[in-house]
Amino acid sequence: MYSFEAFLPTKIVFGKGRVNDLPKHVKGMGKKAMIVTGRSSTKKSGLLDRVVKLLKDTGIDSIVFDKVIPNPILEIVDEGAEIAKKEDVDLIIGLGGGSAIDSSKAISITACSGGSYWDYTRVGKAKKPQCALPIVAIPTTHGTGTEADPFMVITNRKTKEKLGQGFGELTFPKVSIVDPETMVTLPPDQTAYTSMDAFYHSLEAFLNVNAYPYSDVLAIDSMKRVASNLRVAYENGSNIEARTELAWASTEAGITETLTGVVINHALEHGLSGFNEKVTHGLGLCTLGPSFLEYIYDHAYERIAIFGREVFGVIEYNDKRAATLAIKKLWEFQEVFRCNVPIRELGISKDDFEEMAKVVYKMFKELAEMTPGNPKVEDFVKIYEMAW
Ligand SMILES: [Fe+2]
Repeated sequence: MYSFEAFLPTKIVFGKGRVNDLPKHVKGMGKKAMIVTGRSSTKKSGLLDRVVKLLKDTGIDSIVFDKVIPNPILEIVDEGAEIAKKEDVDLIIGLGGGSAIDSSKAISITACSGGSYWDYTRVGKAKKPQCALPIVAIPTTHGTGTEADPFMVITNRKTKEKLGQGFGELTFPKVSIVDPETMVTLPPDQTAYTSMDAFYHSLEAFLNVNAYPYSDVLAIDSMKRVASNLRVAYENGSNIEARTELAWASTEAGITETLTGVVINHALEHGLSGFNEKVTHGLGLCTLGPSFLEYIYDHAYERIAIFGREVFGVIEYNDKRAATLAIKKLWEFQEVFRCNVPIRELGISKDDFEEMAKVVYKMFKELAEMTPGNPKVEDFVKIYEMAW
């Protein structure tokens, strides 16, 4: 039996060319914006200049904070928040991949509520933020789902903690403009990694012990769209139809992640990229994913079987056999995009497993509780060993 509450306050503006609609959606949000973005891609593509001009035409001045790095870190978020306060900005625009949008959310909380972002995290001082500046998200990748969820992932380098956290209504974007045209310049490897991030948001939400029909229908649909369009976009990045399908898959995955939530596979990945910032999130998920499914098989084979039948067309009546085939299909699918990279090739030592597992448990105990079988630290170490 299921019973649930769903709260999805973000206005989603979706489709090719829809960035041009920015003026009408930011009207009334204030007079000055901070655009949070990365160092190069939105400059090279001309998107940053375009957004600055669109804002100017609406009567909104903007400043650009372009220090965001992949796997965003606390120091940069706090620096951005200081500048936003000093410059007295009214709204924050996250422009770029998940790192830019996640940083914009953390800056929005910290600029409005004061102090350091870590003061508000559950592993920091756990203070309740009083307010946040309005957030507008313009994603240029199709994977993180951050355009449709209240979460941000920020790393504290000192403690090696890579923490995903949301602050309810405060950090849902007010508006997200998902325009597949902004995504065509993504190179093949990033196309695969970001799409697999979306895929795992949905797969994990589908396996969550609290899954329910509303989240299931989005989860399955988004995985199907990734399964049938990723190869096209991987081979021909400018195929706008495939980009559109992947962009919608990502947004659907973001919604299902909000409704139900990911499980421990995501947290175990944060262990990997928290210990080595060079690990790309989407790739780390693929490194762990099939081993994770094998580990929880006894607790989840019925759902894994449904996943296999729906997403990969597995034809097998017996659930256990269908689940085994589903995991095999997942390995094969990932192989097409060279995503079956073992942990030993990710610059992480086996000696770190115990510590990584403990950090993950400390930060993501509640994700373990939503994972079939409710795994503990010793189980995490075993999954890392299987993926070694
Ligand atoms: Fe993710």
